[in-house]
This record gives sequence, structure tokens and C-alpha cells, in this order.
Amino acid sequence: MSFALPADAASRPTPFYLYDLALLERTLAAVQQAARKRDIHVHYALKANANAPILERIRRHGLGADCVSGPEVQRALDTGFGPQNIVFAGVGKSDAEINLALAADIWCFNAESVEELTVLNELAAAQGRRARVALRINPNVDAHTHHYITTGLDANKFGISLNDLADVIDQLGALPHLELVGLHAHIGSQITNLSVFGELSRKLNELQTWLEGRGHHLPHLNVGGGLGIDYHNPDTQAVPDFEAYFQMFEQHLVRRPGQQVHVELGRSIVAQCGALVSKVLYVKRSQQTNFAILDAGMTELIRPALYGSYHQIQNLTSQGSRQLYDVVGPICESSDTFGREVAMPETRRGDLVVIRSAGAYGEVMASNYNLREKAEAVYVG
Ligand code: LLP
Repeated sequence: MSFALPADAASRPTPFYLYDLALLERTLAAVQQAARKRDIHVHYALKANANAPILERIRRHGLGADCVSGPEVQRALDTGFGPQNIVFAGVGKSDAEINLALAADIWCFNAESVEELTVLNELAAAQGRRARVALRINPNVDAHTHHYITTGLDANKFGISLNDLADVIDQLGALPHLELVGLHAHIGSQITNLSVFGELSRKLNELQTWLEGRGHHLPHLNVGGGLGIDYHNPDTQAVPDFEAYFQMFEQHLVRRPGQQVHVELGRSIVAQCGALVSKVLYVKRSQQTNFAILDAGMTELIRPALYGSYHQIQNLTSQGSRQLYDVVGPICESSDTFGREVAMPETRRGDLVVIRSAGAYGEVMASNYNLREKAEAVYVG
């Protein structure tokens, strides 16, 4: 594997998350090169991974911050992201979270309902401010990804339905502490069929024309995140194809002069930069299956259990003829399985096993179920 293991990997307590900062740097250089060429601003979605050394590098490359909670806004501020580069999204922002973001004078709230706009207006008035808002619309575009991470369909809880938009725009007129600056849409995550971004762009074009007809000119369009990565080829496809992604917007989104376009990428920036390193506790042979039981479980990486996601699994210690293993964790749930029928060299107790592409939605989704302790993060590169 292309990952450089730390020199003391064999003696470190396992499991641990391992982050390749050199790969992160290459990814950041690639995304910024592709975006800047097209005058597109990239905001990093902190929800994918909010570790300080990672955020620090992301900030240094000039990305903004896309936050979905008060603590994420605070983390972005603490890491040195300027308030003018922070947006706050989320279907259920609490009053305390809104107040924090208002006081920091962040660039924009992505608002998802009239109810939220009303509260935002009241809280902004109380602080004597005017909040910039982008309306998160639900464009009813199918992202063709796992239904748990599809967000842009009418059946999803996110965004303002297109049927309600006229009404929301009318009501905005009575909310003087809000300034409408743009539209926002996010249709889902781990999107590999890029044509859906073309479809999203066309929907946004129509909406913009319609809004302009009603006298609203938007300085800002936020097309969300969602670019998928290649979980099957973490080495050969380590840096996602950002060129192809941005080209979709370049070709299909009709920009007005001077209009800013933002994307908010999470996974594609950090997923392949992280791995989960674990030790084999036991190899248990049953009549049907060989189980490689790891000391990492769904508590450290829940994606396979929650979405049935594929992550490449490699035995770093043993060599020799390959056998099939069900690679499982120690947690008392049958879904605590990282992979079934995984071909690995004959595996023994004490072998180091690495689960790849765990840098996004891995550590941030960890839990202490079974009272497990938090796994450490180790950085190389
Ligand atoms: N913007 C909004 C409004 C979002 O909801 C999300 C992700 C993003 C941006 C970043 O999307 P990305 O570029 O990372 O796809 N836990 C799931 C993924 C949940 C994504 C939630 N929203 C997983 O492990 O696959």
C-alpha cells in the first residue's frame, strides 16, 4: 500500500486512525487548481473530518468551511478560518447555535424552512444584525447513491421544496433582518455518476431565471458537495477527478457576471487520506466461515455496518496463500462486519490489518458503544 506506516506501528496500541498528510496536501493542491481555474470557491465540509492538523492544512490551502453545528462553527473559527469564509447549514439549527454564528458574523446561513428563517430573523434583530441567507432548495434530483445519503429528493427532510419556494420568497419580504444572497442545494454524497451535477445545474438555472423575474438577483450560488471517491482503488485513484467534477458546473451552470459559485466538499478531500489500523485478536474457524476478529469495530468505522459500504482491507503482516475471511469487529452486533469473504494471506493473531479510505465519516462518527475508548489519531507524511 502507498501508506507510510509510522515506524512504531507494530508496538502502538491499536486500533488507531492513520492519516497521510502528504496525500492530503496533494489532494488540496489538485482541488484548488481545478477550482481556481474556473473561479469556484471550495468550502470544506467539516462533518467529514474535523481533526485540527487536517483542518489546519485545509485552511492553509485557502478553502472555506462548511459547518452543520455550533461546535463545527466554533472549531472552524478556532482553526483560523475567517468568518467571511464560513457557512452554516443544517435542517435543525438551535437558537444557541444561530446566536453563536450571528455573533461571529459568518458569511452565510443556508436556511431550510420558513420556520427557521423566522427564528433567524428574530435572533438577528435581537443582536442588531442582518444575517445573510441562502435558501437551501430541494431540487428533486436523484443523486443515484445510497438512500441514506440521498438528500435532494422530495421525500427527504432537507431543503425547501420547489412547490413552496414562491411562498418562502414572499414571506422573506417581511423579515427585514435577513438578506437573501443566494441559493443552496446539496443532493447527496458519494456521487460517482457526475451527470447528476449537470441536472442540478439545469434546475438552478431555471430557478435563477424565475427569481430574477421576481426581482431577486443572487450574488451567490452554492451547489453543495457530494463528489464520490473510488473505494476500490485507494492507491491508483488516490486523488479524485476534480477536473471532471468542476467541468460539469462549468458546462451546465449559467453564471451571472460577478456571481460567486461555491461547492462544499467533504469526503473527496479527506477519505483516502485516512485508514483504520487494527490488530487481529483471533482467527476463528467455523464450518462455514473463517472469521478474522479485529480489535477495531463499528465503533471506529460505522460505514460498513450502517450503509453496507465497501472498504478495502489489507493484512500488512502475513504473506502466503490467500484465504477468504469474514473480517469482523468485537462489538456485540452482527452488523459489526467490515467485509465478507475478503481474500487475505493466511492470517494470524497479532497481524496488523488496515481498512482503507476511512478518513471521511470515520473518526467523526465514532461512538463509545460498549464503553470503548476513543482510538488515537496518528499522522504521517
Ligand atoms: N453539504 C451538505 C449540506 C451536506 O449535507 C454534506 C454531507 C456535504 C456538503 C458534504 O458532502 P460530501 O462532499 O462529503 O459528500 N456519513 C455518510 C455521508 C453523509 C453525508 C452528509 N452530508 C457516509 O459515511 O457516507
